[in-house]
Amino acid sequence: MIIDTHMHIFDARYEGILEDVIKDALKSNVKKMIAVGYDYESSKKAIALSKKYDFIYASIGLHPSEVQKEEDKKLTWLTEMLKSEKVIAIGEIGLDYYWDKSYKDEQIAMFIKQIEIAKEYNLPIIVHSRESTLDCFNILKENKTSGVMHCYSSSLEMAVEFTKIGYYIGIGGVVTFKNSKEIKRVVENIDIKYLLSETDSPYLAPTPFRGQINKPGYTKYVIQEIANLKKISLEEVEAALENNARKLFGI
Ligand code: NI
Repeated sequence: MIIDTHMHIFDARYEGILEDVIKDALKSNVKKMIAVGYDYESSKKAIALSKKYDFIYASIGLHPSEVQKEEDKKLTWLTEMLKSEKVIAIGEIGLDYYWDKSYKDEQIAMFIKQIEIAKEYNLPIIVHSRESTLDCFNILKENKTSGVMHCYSSSLEMAVEFTKIGYYIGIGGVVTFKNSKEIKRVVENIDIKYLLSETDSPYLAPTPFRGQINKPGYTKYVIQEIANLKKISLEEVEAALENNARKLFGI
């Protein structure tokens, strides 16, 4: 079985095609999926989806790019939503210095706050990090827990460091792009026991769908590329990554 550990198919872009998108995923052997929220509204939608389909799980959290818009600085909604049985992780949370660096301190504070909630509830975290690798690493090193570096986009050297402190490396459609040399190097060199497959749908569709709307079914192209890079069979990659996802998320 293939698992898409990171998608947002509650997005408005799937209106009218959601049922087909899910059917296609199941046909492509993508039999479990994690719907990931990034603020109050999207977390609510992720949970609703997880309640409707037993093979969909939910992750909830406040994304670094949404930190300034958040009115409930105590995140009471987050702890309230954690009561839902299908919530299996906190995320996506983290740091993003690409879009806006001006409120770094608030991003860091909210990141640490949510790591603490995850620890309290014994849940793994799904980490978004963009142009913030070192800060992110230092925070995770100091606030020990487990999780995944979602849609990993940094160096092989840092990937090694993240695995040493208990993190999985999330591999998405970007690995199929010709120019993604560093991510290919990450996949070639990191032990398969640390890799997870994901799509980040609707974003970052793999080759040959680059630029189009992404779908959980396309996780199979990510698996294929990992198999090519590691020079092992598709079945081996599938089995290893399924095992990793089950271990981290308890699904
Ligand atoms: Ni995402």
